[in-house]
Amino acid sequence: MIHQRHATPVPLPAALTAALVAWALAPSAATHAPPARPLAENRTATFGAGLPTAFREPPSVSSRGGVLQATLTAARSSITVGGQRAVTEVYNGSYSPPTLRVHPGDLIRLRLINRLDEPTNFHTHGLHVSPAGNSDNPFLPVQPGQTQEFEFRIPANHPAGLFWYHPHAHHFSNEQVRNGMSGALIVEGLLDSFPTLRGLKERVLLLKDIQLEHGHIADRGIGVGTTRTVNGLVNPTLALRPGETELWRIGNVGANLYYRLRLDGHRFYQVARDGNRLARLVPTDELFIPPGGRIEVLVQGGARGMHPLRTLAMNTGPAGNQYPAAVLATMRVEGEAVTPRTLPTTLLPVKDLRSKVTGHRTVVFSEGETQDGDVFFIDGKTFDPNRVDTRVRLGAVEEWTIRNESDELHDFHIHQTGFQLVEVNGTPQPLDGYYDTVNVPVRGEIKIIIPFTDPVMVGKFVYHCHLLSHEDKGMMATIEVVP
Ligand code: C2O
Ligand code: CU
Repeated sequence: MIHQRHATPVPLPAALTAALVAWALAPSAATHAPPARPLAENRTATFGAGLPTAFREPPSVSSRGGVLQATLTAARSSITVGGQRAVTEVYNGSYSPPTLRVHPGDLIRLRLINRLDEPTNFHTHGLHVSPAGNSDNPFLPVQPGQTQEFEFRIPANHPAGLFWYHPHAHHFSNEQVRNGMSGALIVEGLLDSFPTLRGLKERVLLLKDIQLEHGHIADRGIGVGTTRTVNGLVNPTLALRPGETELWRIGNVGANLYYRLRLDGHRFYQVARDGNRLARLVPTDELFIPPGGRIEVLVQGGARGMHPLRTLAMNTGPAGNQYPAAVLATMRVEGEAVTPRTLPTTLLPVKDLRSKVTGHRTVVFSEGETQDGDVFFIDGKTFDPNRVDTRVRLGAVEEWTIRNESDELHDFHIHQTGFQLVEVNGTPQPLDGYYDTVNVPVRGEIKIIIPFTDPVMVGKFVYHCHLLSHEDKGMMATIEVVP
């Protein structure tokens, strides 16, 4: 099963996808004969059948006395992921590098040692920190053999929630994240204001997928023959009591996949998105998480039994990618029931930026083909770090229209700030909270309002599609915020 051979990465015909999905979802899939043409995608559902893996989290490092000190060494290392051995590019010899935990007002002192044979660098996705110098600066390369000290000063008023870190060196981001170079960064305090949620058990669930062949990373096309993992584990089991409430911090920290999560027999109660607390608790059956996005939810244990956490099949459009459903983890509800906590309905107010807009801009995502393969554009241009594409004066609050003129999904991410989503294909969106990464429909457009008001963001940084394959092929632009 594991060393199955693969067809070349062609999109699966819809009927076959449906059949595969149905097969993968069948409860006794492991004991049934595989379909006529067994594809590697199936192995996510069957791998390790009968050998339950206990849920585990990456190790965590917390700040002390206002400072978090950490070293990350990027190197090709022998790792185990989903029970398979492989040699990949990772941090600190692990597919699940440490979760960095800080408080607003803290300083992160991070030493990055590059033992790869190619450049890398370091981005703190979603943090409202300076883009300059040795802070969250995507233009600061760390060459092979080099050690770079970074300092990230987290403002005292920084939002609390799940953020993440990953390399951002142009042309290398996709490969390095596909290898496993990404981890969580948590700003503490998300639930501090809600007495009924005190002392809640919390879990970090980092979603990544890995394409392996003979112990090395294979390049099969997005979502093809890929193993889905949660904290580097294939279908781990986590236990809750009936009525027990937990906070799940779910991060899409892989390179290119979209997730549509469902938890059988349960609803999710959304608390935060992209490290921004929502104005109210939003119950939902399905969580849609684009590449780079995070959602934090409360989950309450329901009926005793096994409840798979699934991601549904995904189709990102005629020019995009199709990949099947998969079981990511299994929640086992067992033991003595506990009295469920009363969940708050409203959280804390979120500022509506609609009356504050000082200017407008349009950003166009498109793609084309050359002899060397696909190219991806923002406003008709591929990325050039030496150009300044957009200049904004500090204090501006701008409404940007992001238009997708291609036949596949993209998602829009800008560094250093969150933003408000106000419209999707002409339909006004209710304000429930901010985003830092948002989906842009095929041949559609969205409107967002970006506050360029925090002096911490003065400097040059980037906005881009967070499918890192697209970003590396040009779909990124620069912006300078000037005082
Ligand atoms: Cu997580 Cu510029 O990216
Ligand atoms: Cu894209």
